[in-house]
Amino acid sequence: MLRFDILTVFPEMFDSPLSSGVVGKALKNKIIDVQCLDLRRFASDQHKSVDDYPFGGGGGMILKPEPIFGAVDHLIQNSDLKPSDSIILLSPQGRKLDQKKAEDLAKHDRMVLICGRYDGVDERVVKHLVTEEVSIGDYVISGGELAAMVLIDALTRLQQNVLGSAESIEDDSHTSGLLQFPQYTRPSVFREWEVPEVLLSGNHEEIKNFRDAESIKRTLERRPDLLQGTDSN
Ligand SMILES: C[S@@+](CC[C@H](N)C(=O)[O-])C[C@H]1O[C@@H](n2cnc3c(N)ncnc32)[C@H](O)[C@@H]1O
Repeated sequence: MLRFDILTVFPEMFDSPLSSGVVGKALKNKIIDVQCLDLRRFASDQHKSVDDYPFGGGGGMILKPEPIFGAVDHLIQNSDLKPSDSIILLSPQGRKLDQKKAEDLAKHDRMVLICGRYDGVDERVVKHLVTEEVSIGDYVISGGELAAMVLIDALTRLQQNVLGSAESIEDDSHTSGLLQFPQYTRPSVFREWEVPEVLLSGNHEEIKNFRDAESIKRTLERRPDLLQGTDSN
């Protein structure tokens, strides 16, 4: 089982996305477990504040260190979090998530995901608690929660017995370093658009050759950097 502990000021954001589809099924079948901890529980003042003004001035608020360290201490004391478990901060400054990184992280059996908010988190969290920072791309979103959900989904579909045998991970874009070939379903003619004949032929070898060629062609057209091994990461 792969367990995620989420540290967030918006735990309710996780309810709906985790209840449907592949992730919902994996949770139900106990292949993954997701526990959300509300950072406000670990606020040290009477107002339960989790953020404060930045030293040196500037516009936004910063997530305070005490609630985040407090939540991790709580996990160590109450749920056997080990020093070797990863503590990941979702951050636009982190290493960009790609399929290879997802495959590496999917081998873990537990990780803590810290969701930043406002203008970010106190740097002492990054320096003295976090084991790595992960970004979902070169853009800024308002909080780490959606990024954590992306990470959870990408890692969940790589767990054994999550996808049915018909949904092959190997054919997925990025797994083999290529984009996936185009896919079609019934009807074989929709309006005046026909499905490529070879896919209706039943000839497995020809279908495989067609798909391999389409995969390479599509990757060349859309993401030549993948073929040169010069992914922008
Ligand atoms: C508005 S952002 C703060 C960005 C920060 N001021 C900076 O420039 O690095 C608030 C939080 O959203 C999350 N976040 C934003 N963009 C992200 C991305 N591309 N990948 C992962 N997390 C992201 C992080 O947890 C971040 O602390």
